[in-house]
Amino acid sequence: MAVSGKVSGSAAADRVRVRHPYSRLPNWVYPTFVVAALSLFGAFAVWVVFFQNEGYFAPYLSPFYSPEIRVGSIPPGVWVAWAPLAFRMTCYYYRKAYFRSFFWHPRSCAVDEPKRKYRGETVFPWVLNNFHRFAFYATVVQVCFLWYDAVVAFNFGGRFGIGAGSVLMLVNVLLLSGYTFGCHAFRHLAGGELDCFSCSMVARARHKLWQGVTVLNIRHDRWAWASLMSVAGTDIYIRLLLAGVLHDPRWIA
Ligand code: FES
Repeated sequence: MAVSGKVSGSAAADRVRVRHPYSRLPNWVYPTFVVAALSLFGAFAVWVVFFQNEGYFAPYLSPFYSPEIRVGSIPPGVWVAWAPLAFRMTCYYYRKAYFRSFFWHPRSCAVDEPKRKYRGETVFPWVLNNFHRFAFYATVVQVCFLWYDAVVAFNFGGRFGIGAGSVLMLVNVLLLSGYTFGCHAFRHLAGGELDCFSCSMVARARHKLWQGVTVLNIRHDRWAWASLMSVAGTDIYIRLLLAGVLHDPRWIA
């Protein structure tokens, strides 16, 4: 162990081996990526939800429109987009990402920040982040609809078939499920407030569930980005089919 101000050779080597994005990439890369990706997705989502009316190319339904609700001339995305929006806005990972990247609040652990007073998430609008658990419930319902849509995507006029869109929709719902069920709030629901994991059948079942959620939770950030991109990718693919720009390749139909 180093007892002076100097770092011993092995400690320095250990430090070099630490895998951490801030030590391996230039400081600006991560926040720039977060700001660019979230801004682009946000602008695209606003365009789809508020200015588009069609997102269905048989048998594929855009994830922005599921479940499809039509009332008058109101774009169908308006009725459903609030749930995933609230879920992602209040997600523990995204909170860290946008606080650090958009507001530099704080830029990173143990880094000074421009804000003088830290009030945590106790005032509007950040206090709304405490409703994350309720956004989780709403999103679980939506993920059920997306699984239904993914199954329907293999039904071509009553016959089983596989198209590129079917695969895309299946991958999309798998990624969304990995993101949704790796949620920190769900992990707490599964195994939180239990003093003993082995004292009853229910406790053991909850422990198993908690272990499963933990597997997804470890890479929650990657599920978050992958599912965000798959939602946009699936919607864009369906839009290109609708516009006649692409032809859906079918392997069995
Ligand atoms: Fe990210 Fe719940 S913490 S979805």
